[in-house]
Amino acid sequence: MGTARVVFDKWEGRYAQRIGDVRSSAVRDLFAAASRPDMISLSGGMPEVRAVPAHAVADAAHGAVVHAGAQALQYGSSNGRVELRETIVELMAETGVRIAAADVVVTAGAQQGLDLLAKTFLDPGDVVICEGPTYVGALQAFSAYQPDIRCIPMDGEGMRMDLLEAELRAVGYQGAKFIYTIPNFQNPGGVTLSAPRRRRLLELAREYDIPVIEDDPYGRLRFEGGHVKPLRALDDEVIYLGTFSKIFAPGLRLGWMTAPQPILAKVLLVKQAADLCGSAFAQVTAERYFAGTRWRKVLQGLARTYAERRDAMLAALEEYFPPEASWTRPEGGFFVWVEFPEFLDTKTMLAEAVEHGVTYVPGDGFYPDGRGRNCMRLAFCYAEPEAITEGIRRLAEVLEDRLELYRAFIAAGALPDRSEGAA
Ligand SMILES: Cc1ncc(COP(=O)(O)O)c(C=O)c1O
Repeated sequence: MGTARVVFDKWEGRYAQRIGDVRSSAVRDLFAAASRPDMISLSGGMPEVRAVPAHAVADAAHGAVVHAGAQALQYGSSNGRVELRETIVELMAETGVRIAAADVVVTAGAQQGLDLLAKTFLDPGDVVICEGPTYVGALQAFSAYQPDIRCIPMDGEGMRMDLLEAELRAVGYQGAKFIYTIPNFQNPGGVTLSAPRRRRLLELAREYDIPVIEDDPYGRLRFEGGHVKPLRALDDEVIYLGTFSKIFAPGLRLGWMTAPQPILAKVLLVKQAADLCGSAFAQVTAERYFAGTRWRKVLQGLARTYAERRDAMLAALEEYFPPEASWTRPEGGFFVWVEFPEFLDTKTMLAEAVEHGVTYVPGDGFYPDGRGRNCMRLAFCYAEPEAITEGIRRLAEVLEDRLELYRAFIAAGALPDRSEGAA
């Protein structure tokens, strides 16, 4: 948005065909517009890193150089430092997952995990099953390998198992390379896969012999309701992606993957080609940060902050948004998903919203096939509560203009109301 320039590309035609399928992330494109001082950003899923005490990070980074410099500044092993992998084992145990350090590969964020898995598993035309809508970064990572991505709609309990079963019946035994799911506070849907559906998903995956990738960046950011065990806690064949981005800081670019040993071995080969090894410096810094207990208080504070912002967003939606809109009510995480009648095109509306000083992400970026144009993702993680309220008010003004036309059509009986429930 805003600063995008059309540049003649004399190398067009030289690039690998698969790159043609990769679309730019609308979220990243919005960053330029969102940085205007008067702009209220309800678009980017940026964690509130100002809540992470700078001195605690500085101490950890200082210690990394002074006490472990020879390792922190050197190449390290491809699967990551054993000390950090042990920290990860403890973090996972707290959520109900029992693994050993040997079951973990440290990655440059969960995003690298997605890319490595795509590279490891996908050939052109392979079927991938995921939620619809789903994480835009996963679509980017997968689409570079030209798969056939099938989206399963969600309701308030997450991915619909009846529709998953129908899709699996259609693709048949071993008919998909993997099922990709974000079970907690889904990005962008905001919904959580219920415990019975988790069990059902695993049953179906076993029945059709299809690996499951569980992407769980938000699991520890629950504001209310009981902890629901990760899929990986119920089935040790699940491939699990974790990250330090939301419990510490995304700037370190640290995440992890745990998977059955044969899969990890393949992923490691691919990872060596990608980066030889991750940043040892970032890893030692994270080890030192998580060696204390302070991080727990910081994380609790972060969850409280996000909960306040979620409350502000839900209250503002209730107050300002038109009756034609419906939205999810997340119990954690960063995002609310809003759906409008099909008539409304959130993509063309975005420029007007930016003029009004507010950004959101149009829904179609979260589907591989252009669906979702009547939806939007709103992030409550970044703006302060007052700004969120004002941002929703501004957005409601823009919507009101568009919906007047819609209402006139409806009144004239000229437009069928085809809005349907998803996520
Ligand atoms: C569902 C999901 N997966 C993966 C990521 C990537 O996170 P990171 O690479 O920072 O760990 C994100 C980031 O927002 C996300 O929402």
